[in-house]
Amino acid sequence: MSVIPETVDAVQEALVAQRYVADRHLAVAIHLALQMGRPLFLEGEAGVGKTEVAKVLASMLDEELIRLQCYEGLDVAHALYEWDYARQMLAIRLLESGGDHAEVTDIMSREFLVARPLLRAIELAAQGRRPVLLIDELDRADEEFEAYLLELLSDFQVTIPEVETVKAVVPPVVVITSNRTREIHDALKRRCIYHWIDYPDFDREMAILRQKAPEVDEELAAQLSSAMTVLRNMDLFKPPGVAETLDWAGALRILGVHELDADAVDETLGVVLKYQEDVERVRAAGIDELWS
Ligand SMILES: Nc1ncnc2c1ncn2[C@@H]1O[C@H](COP(=O)(O)OP(=O)(O)OP(=O)(O)O)[C@@H](O)[C@H]1O
Ligand SMILES: [Mg+2]
Repeated sequence: MSVIPETVDAVQEALVAQRYVADRHLAVAIHLALQMGRPLFLEGEAGVGKTEVAKVLASMLDEELIRLQCYEGLDVAHALYEWDYARQMLAIRLLESGGDHAEVTDIMSREFLVARPLLRAIELAAQGRRPVLLIDELDRADEEFEAYLLELLSDFQVTIPEVETVKAVVPPVVVITSNRTREIHDALKRRCIYHWIDYPDFDREMAILRQKAPEVDEELAAQLSSAMTVLRNMDLFKPPGVAETLDWAGALRILGVHELDADAVDETLGVVLKYQEDVERVRAAGIDELWS
């Protein structure tokens, strides 16, 4: 376990040490979430670094990253805990076989439970740890699940009726992400520190490339960053995120390209754009308009 940075500047530096380039607003949001023990609610387009925040926080704090990937139909049992029926059956058979199985006393006890991400996070937090709980893409889950989450994030405690109530001593570090395919309820958002992660501006994209793809030389990095800015302003069906910038840098390295030219860009557009309509649109606008 390492110490939580005490100032916004210290947070920003600690993030860079994990190769994550945050602007000041995001650093402030993270700082407040850590200090106030509130969940951090991150919204933004695809590939702008939402999920990565939780990953870097876990390594920054040297704590476990517990990830709950949301999907349609996700129910509380899958997120919280489930009884291990197979083990329970085995225990019952052992008891019925009449041998001396003193260790099997109660099949409705903790040892017969399988902790899923939410319980795992609360159990660690009940021991005074601060694991990072990532609730990823909450907009994909149903509203009933959201309602349960609201309750959990209010008191950070879980009651398992047959067993016990587990309560966090300190709140875990919670990061909730959403791609905003639907709105998350105000009641849940109210409990969180909210931050919209925007596409990076030119300077931040350059800094990200420096951190994540140091082998790319300054000039190519500048060309890539300006191309990205142009693409994001083109009203595409699916504008590229930071993930695509890094992929593009990687693809150009594999092809031995050190400077953007129309052919290299045309050949690698599929790394950056994922819809044929977008590819056609960029070609129609003129490939060499992307950088200059
Ligand atoms: N500010 C940043 N600093 C360093 N790397 C970044 C930054 N933002 C994004 N990345 C990199 O971009 C990639 C995509 O980030 P991530 O998966 O967190 O995006 P996301 O917002 O969760 O996307 P999605 O909505 O598709 O899940 C990762 O490889 C991440 O390391
Ligand atoms: Mg993500």
